[in-house]
Amino acid sequence: MDHVQQHEKVIVIDFGGQYNQLVARRVRECSVYCEIYSYRTPLEQIRAMQPKGIILTGGPNSVYTPDAAVCSPELFSLGVPVLGLCYGAQLMQHVLGGQVERAPEREYGKTEVILDEPKSALFDGIASPTTCWMSHNDYISRIADGFRVTAHTANCPVAAAEDAARGLYAIQFHPEVLHTEHGFEMIRHFVLDICGCSGDWRMDDFAERTIEELRSRIGDGKVLCALSGGVDSSVAAVLLAKAVGKNLTCVFVDHGLLRKNEGDMVEEVFGPNGPYDLQFVRVNAQERFYKKLAGVTEPERKRKIIGEEFIRVFEDEAKKIGRVDYLVQGTIYPDVVESGLGGESATIKSHHNVGGLPDYVDFKEIVEPLRNLFKDEVRKVGRHLGIPEKLVSRQPFPGPGLGIRIIGEVTAEKVRIVQDADAIFREEMEKAGLDRTASQYYAALTNLRSVGVMGDERTYDYAIALRSVNTVDFMTADVTEIPYTVLKTTMNRIINEVEHVNRVFYDITSKPPATIELE
Ligand code: XMP
Repeated sequence: MDHVQQHEKVIVIDFGGQYNQLVARRVRECSVYCEIYSYRTPLEQIRAMQPKGIILTGGPNSVYTPDAAVCSPELFSLGVPVLGLCYGAQLMQHVLGGQVERAPEREYGKTEVILDEPKSALFDGIASPTTCWMSHNDYISRIADGFRVTAHTANCPVAAAEDAARGLYAIQFHPEVLHTEHGFEMIRHFVLDICGCSGDWRMDDFAERTIEELRSRIGDGKVLCALSGGVDSSVAAVLLAKAVGKNLTCVFVDHGLLRKNEGDMVEEVFGPNGPYDLQFVRVNAQERFYKKLAGVTEPERKRKIIGEEFIRVFEDEAKKIGRVDYLVQGTIYPDVVESGLGGESATIKSHHNVGGLPDYVDFKEIVEPLRNLFKDEVRKVGRHLGIPEKLVSRQPFPGPGLGIRIIGEVTAEKVRIVQDADAIFREEMEKAGLDRTASQYYAALTNLRSVGVMGDERTYDYAIALRSVNTVDFMTADVTEIPYTVLKTTMNRIINEVEHVNRVFYDITSKPPATIELE
C-alpha cells in the first residue's frame, strides 16, 4: 500500500541472520518506518527507495569464502548512513579494504564491551564498559582506511568502528537483542541522530490513512473476508468495515474446534448486534468437520482435512454471496518475510499455512491492509480502532484449533471435555495474573485413559495435559513456572467439574525438544 511511500524509511538489508526481523522491529520502535530486503536486491532499487539509513544484518557466512553473501561497494557511497551489525560489520570492513579473519576463539554470549570513544554519536551517553550480546567466529583484524576503532573486548580488538564523516558504522555485537543492555539506545542514536529521521511513524495515523486508502481503492466494490476471530483477521476486518461498510461480508466458519464460547464472542463483536456496519455470516459447520475427522488419528492428516474442509465451507458461502471483487487476507509483515518475499530468512512453516487460497472464489484482487505491520503494531491498530481487548490481546491459536489439541481421533465429546478443562485453566491463570506473562497456554486432551476412583466407583477416564510456555518468537520456548497452588486448584476444578477426566498432567518440556502444540 502506498501510504508508506510518503514516510521516511530505513532499510534493513538481510544477510540471513536469525535476528533480522528484530532489527526492523527496533527501528519501528523508534517510530521510524522500516522494511527488510534481501542482500540480492539491486543497488538501483535501494537508491530509488531513498532510504534515510541502511542497516546490514548479521548472517551465517564468512566474508572471505567464495559463496559469501555480499553487497556492492557503492552501497557505502550513496550518501546514506550505513550501520553494519555482526556479519554486516565484517562485510563493510571487507568491502572497504579492511581485513576479516577467523578468530582464534569464538565469542558467544553476554560480553563486556569497552567503549573507547564515548563521544561516538552511536554510544552517546552510554557508560563503559557495557554488556553486549556477541555471536561470531570471524573478527575484524584490520579496519578499513578512514575508520577508527570505537570499542573493543578482551578477545576482540574491533567490537565497533566508525567513519563518522562518511556516516559508516560497524558493530560486531547485536544491539537488536535485549541481552545487549543499551542496544536499543544505540539503534535509536543511529536512526534518529545519525540518519536524522524525525520519528513520525505512528500507528494512530496508520488506521485513518489506511481506511481512506481502502475506501478510494475499493469504491463500491464487494469485499469478502474470512474471519477467524484471531487478531490479524479481526483488525483487517474492522479496517475494511470502516472503509466500505455493508459492502464487506465477513464469513466466520465455526469448525467446532474453537475454545469454549469463542464463536459467540466473535459474533458479539462482528455480528448484527455488534458495533460494526458489515454483513456477518456465521457458519455452524461443526458436524461437517466432525464427520470428516471421524476415525482420523494422524496429526498432519487432521491438519490437512481441517484446512481443506475450511476452504470448501468458505467457498460454499462465497457462492451464496455472489459477486466478489476483493478478498481480504490478514497477512502481516513476518508472513511476508518468512515466505521469502521480503528478506532472506525463508523459514516457511508449511504446516501453519493450512488450506491456502480458496480457488473457487473468483475475485479481482487481494487486499492485505496489514502487510507491512508487525504483530505488536497490529495490536496497537486494533486498540486504536476500539476492538475489545480480549480480541486484541488474544494468544496465538492454531488454525486447526482443538483438532491438534486432542491427541488421536476427534469427537464431539472430546471437544466438549477439552473446551471445559481449557476454560477452567484459563480462568485460574487469569486469577493468578499469569495471563500477563505467559505467551500461550491451554489444556489438551491426551489419548491416555487410565483407571481412577471417584467416590466409591472405579473410573476409566481421560487425562488432561496442561501446557503453558513463555517465548518471544515461538520458535523456542520455556515452560511457565506456574506456582504449585495454581496447578493444584486447576487440577481440583477440572476433576470436579469436567466429566470423564480423572487425571491432570502439567507438561514441563521446553521447545525443543517438544513443540508448543501437542500435535
Ligand atoms: P509449534 O507447535 O510448532 O507451534 O511449536 C508454534 C506456534 O505455531 C502455532 N501452530 C499453528 N498455527 N496452524 C496454525 O495456524 C497450525 O497447524 C499450527 N501448529 C502450531 C502454535 O499454536 C504456536 O503458537
